[in-house]
Amino acid sequence: MKRHTIALGGAGLMLGVSLLAIHAQELTGELPDPPAFAAQSEPNFVSVTDILEYKALPEYHEPDWVTKKYVDAGTLPPVKDRLPKEPMVYKTGDMPDGIGVYGDTMRHVIGGRPEGWNYIGGQSQGWGGIDIGLSECLTRTGPLFEIKADELEPLPNLAKSWEWSEDGHELTMHLIEGAKWSDGDAFDADDVMFYWNDNVNDTNVSPLNGATPETFGVGTTLEALDPYTIKWTFKEVRPTQYLYAMAYGTFCPGPSHILKPEHPKYNTANTYEQYKNAFPPEYMNIPVMGAWVPVEYRADDIIVMRRNPYYWKVDEAGNQLPYLNEMHYRLSTWADRDVQAVAGSGDFSNLEQAESFVESLKRSAEDSAPARLQFGARTIGYALRMNFSANGWGEPDARGQAIRELNRNLDFRKAVSIALDRQRLGDSLVRGPFTAIYPGGLYAGTAFYDKASTVYYPYNIEAANTLLDGLGLTDTDGNGIRNLANGGGDLEITLLANTDYGTDTNLAEGVIAQLEPLGIRVIANFQTGTARDDMAQAGQFDWSVERQGSEMVSVVQGTTALAPTGPRTSYFHRAGTDGTLDLLPFEQELVDTVNAFVATSDNAERVALMKKYQHTYTENVYSVGLTQYPGALIVNKRFANIPAGAPIFMFNWAEDNIIRERVFVPADKQGDYELHPETLPGKPGGAGPV
Ligand code: GLA
Repeated sequence: MKRHTIALGGAGLMLGVSLLAIHAQELTGELPDPPAFAAQSEPNFVSVTDILEYKALPEYHEPDWVTKKYVDAGTLPPVKDRLPKEPMVYKTGDMPDGIGVYGDTMRHVIGGRPEGWNYIGGQSQGWGGIDIGLSECLTRTGPLFEIKADELEPLPNLAKSWEWSEDGHELTMHLIEGAKWSDGDAFDADDVMFYWNDNVNDTNVSPLNGATPETFGVGTTLEALDPYTIKWTFKEVRPTQYLYAMAYGTFCPGPSHILKPEHPKYNTANTYEQYKNAFPPEYMNIPVMGAWVPVEYRADDIIVMRRNPYYWKVDEAGNQLPYLNEMHYRLSTWADRDVQAVAGSGDFSNLEQAESFVESLKRSAEDSAPARLQFGARTIGYALRMNFSANGWGEPDARGQAIRELNRNLDFRKAVSIALDRQRLGDSLVRGPFTAIYPGGLYAGTAFYDKASTVYYPYNIEAANTLLDGLGLTDTDGNGIRNLANGGGDLEITLLANTDYGTDTNLAEGVIAQLEPLGIRVIANFQTGTARDDMAQAGQFDWSVERQGSEMVSVVQGTTALAPTGPRTSYFHRAGTDGTLDLLPFEQELVDTVNAFVATSDNAERVALMKKYQHTYTENVYSVGLTQYPGALIVNKRFANIPAGAPIFMFNWAEDNIIRERVFVPADKQGDYELHPETLPGKPGGAGPV
């Protein structure tokens, strides 16, 4: 371990005093400003009421073939009877290309694989916009990127309106009345209460995207007053923040008439595992509230969805949405999504893997390019997360336990942080003005970011070595790897990363390589998406490298993930086997700050609280920021109604942001891509489209 010895000598000379005398001030440095990178289009900012309203229209329309083949044949009620009393109406003024026409397909390509359709029971559908499209939630936040900043609040969705009690502790929500699941069954408060009581509040169930009771505040209750009215009771006063948690992905009820009979509480023959897995990908026509229903699945090939004849949203002319008849999800790789979207054999991609930027930009710049590509702000960021639980989450062995205790040590985290050359990590993905040094915490692009509150520890390998020496982590057996203190084994740490994304494993490999000269052996634990998610969820990791969630860019979305405000709200610190959280003092500060943020809607106060959060977070290296960069939305040019300035990620992913149910293809541009033309979803569990 030559390099280590040299580095150590250097540090000794540099400090000229005791190896332990490194103070925080000496390690901090000036954070370079991110390279200028202008987003390529700006949103047209509007009010919530400019986008939609709920009202009855004098007449309703649907594709002609639906009327002729189904309604006229008596197998489907007329469209007016399939719609709610007052459907959601999208206003023409906010539709970039106005009222659309029916037809065509959006051909997605994805890298994930579906586990099954039980989203609220915890199954993944393969991501890439599948679950976003199937799920409708009480509120909606994806489109908020175009809401005027001073009017920012979640859009109504399944909850069409709400009001707060005088004292601010109660929130009464009115559900859309007379809306139906895609099989014609009524949607009502039973679906909402089944989700809440038997999934969120049943600790044997972990809904996908991690809803827990604390996502909505400690001590919060929910009850149904009648089939279309629900009432929340909060400990806090007017916590409007939770309206964001009622959007995707934490309050999207499933079809209780289908799921309940499989739930162990109602079916004692079933285990929780059986409940979770009761609707495998082969199960067709699962009832949804979303615009398209899965009608065909071929493993490692494709998922096909057809229009939902009961969809409850219309345009101002009374045309039932969606305009697009079919959705494809080719089961391929995420990198292939970029390639196909640029080439025109796919229709949509969130260009988010920096390694694909140069090639995609080149191809899209040609006049004949089939797709438009537009970069947005830096909303993609990666961090190295350390497991903070020292009381049993994931049941670590002795080595794992020793690592967790190190993870909880500030000098250790600082050493790891300053041993990483972030500039080089970013450049290894893509050269150019894209990536920026990411010190951790809130992204530079969010309104709540404050540079002055951000503590940055720049690259300093000498000091990193000194810090580790100071912790007694020296190489006692001379094999080039430091040993755990007091005669322990080699300092070996496993690093969990997702092989579905080249970027995740490239960054993880960068971390492994850069920590080697420090005498830390980081061992790759690279897993495919679903297995990775399961291990992360179960707490079975020492460290992980991952792309972060919307809490880091929007702050108001996913807020309770900013700190362990409940036993299961944080990604890397959850309750141990006894159900308690072993919070460090600075974590308690983060929790208090986040709780205070949730409890106030005073903007000045919120800004101040987030400054405090950022300071505590970055000073304590709560996670090790790696790199942040912008993403580009790639959509085939034949599609209309794609909103200007739609980011690939902010409150939600672009699949939600662009409001796909309003997207259409003008008649003269329509392609011949429908695999099941003039069919509708069949019976739940049936063979496919009819
Ligand atoms: C995956 C993809 C994202 C986005 C989301 C939608 O995470 O990487 O680009 O499509 O799915 O859930």
